[in-house]
Amino acid sequence: MTDLAAAWTALEAAARTDSATRIVDLFAAEPDRLARLSVEAAGLTLDLSKQPWSAAGLTAALDLARAAGVEARRGRQFAGEAINVTENRAVLHMALRAPDGADWQAVGKPVSAGVEAVRKAMAAFVAEVREGRLRGATGKAFTTVLHIGIGGSDLGPRMVWRALKPLVPQVDVAFVGNVDPADIAAAMARLDPETTLVVVASKTFTTQETMANAAAAKAWLQGKLGPAADDHFAACSTNLEACAAFGIPPERVFGFEDWVGGRYSIWSAVGLSVAIGLGWEAFADFLAGAAAMDEHFRRAPLERNAPVLLALAHVFNRNGLGRPVRVVEPYSDRLGLLAAYLQQLEMESNGKRVTEAGAPVSHATSTAVFGNAGTNDQHAFFQMLHQGTDIIPVDFVAVARADEGPPRQHAILLANAIAQAQALMTGSANAEEPHRHFPGDRPSSFILLDRLTPHALGALLALYEHKVFVEGTLWGVDSFDQWGVELGKTLAGKVLAELEGGEPGAHDPSTAALIGRLR
Ligand code: F6P
Repeated sequence: MTDLAAAWTALEAAARTDSATRIVDLFAAEPDRLARLSVEAAGLTLDLSKQPWSAAGLTAALDLARAAGVEARRGRQFAGEAINVTENRAVLHMALRAPDGADWQAVGKPVSAGVEAVRKAMAAFVAEVREGRLRGATGKAFTTVLHIGIGGSDLGPRMVWRALKPLVPQVDVAFVGNVDPADIAAAMARLDPETTLVVVASKTFTTQETMANAAAAKAWLQGKLGPAADDHFAACSTNLEACAAFGIPPERVFGFEDWVGGRYSIWSAVGLSVAIGLGWEAFADFLAGAAAMDEHFRRAPLERNAPVLLALAHVFNRNGLGRPVRVVEPYSDRLGLLAAYLQQLEMESNGKRVTEAGAPVSHATSTAVFGNAGTNDQHAFFQMLHQGTDIIPVDFVAVARADEGPPRQHAILLANAIAQAQALMTGSANAEEPHRHFPGDRPSSFILLDRLTPHALGALLALYEHKVFVEGTLWGVDSFDQWGVELGKTLAGKVLAELEGGEPGAHDPSTAALIGRLR
């Protein structure tokens, strides 16, 4: 048996042993538990003491991390080695948020000067738009950015904007992602073409949905403004030629490189729209928060390393205790899109069934993630969390201090977050009335931000990015490719051709019937 296989076996045995003890009883057995399982990182506090592991369980998990070579692979990632093996690319989103003067290399090629040049160009463009120096075709200042993108070119900017947008934004940001014509139609109905700047975000600049929406936006603007509509476009992409072919002048194209994965691209030029909406200073703070988490991840010992511990807690549940689903529940309405963002980050990264080398994985991989915002979900699916037949671990995310609204309501919000985590763990016995019995012993993590600042949000997202890296390392998968999205894309092309009158192809009966009905 290899060291890694032995470490997995030990983790599974430790989890079996720990499952015999209630989490709440582990506090009495382990006086140092809370301190040992609480970590401060980049301004965030992470409490993993309500997870189902004992001290021995945690040791087994840390041993697994060591046996899987987390530290060595982390070193290879930060050194810019091509750890995205199936695409032969480095994975260096950390280079995008490092302070000026850094010296990152992607497979031996220096990249930091290029990163800084794009950041400088973005900052200048942001100032031009916000100060009204850059104007639309009819001489009016831009009041809205319409951000067009999908997947990683949408979820990050959309989530960050909802989290950080000022109550009364100086420049508003609107989003269109879905190819459903209702999405772009709603934007066109409510936006003023004279004051709308369209930012097309697409790493490849070939994504069907984004190209369709960009073309629709172009037709809409040209219909109102004529050829001068081109002045209303900017782009964020690695494909500079395609941007030029679309008619966007080079000075309006903000580039990035193939070592930035789509779901890791909010730190790149893909953040342009929110940088315009928030102002450059706030966007720079967002980058700095993530950079602080990068430093923590790189330097903290494994047993005090927040992303490592969060990954191990999740893997302990996923693999040690066979729990395939997890809830992410921010008690912050502004973080209401966090779970949607993490669905791509976690499930597109680690929803894999073969290893880097192409062999079947030895253990189940990504958990399915869902969640919206507390307290709303307490009145929706929390019933199942408390009394359902499956145990679904929760990541609670809370913000200590509110920035707006009636202060008492923030206290109510926090009280609910704390109480839900407590209720899940402690339960409440009721032998007489089974419907009122709460079994408890349901695990959760608690992540606390002091305030929902750009810095804290940057740190939070980087925490999850590195967590995904650690998990991918334990499972042995390439967390940075996404081949699983390709088949559907290819088939959609064929089906579309048939829906538009092309020759019917060979299909299974169900698919053929649907095409026949809808063509
Ligand atoms: O869904 C597949 C995917 O490639 C994602 O990884 C990516 O974030 C999204 O499509 C959008 O891609 P692009 O930024 O190239 O338009």
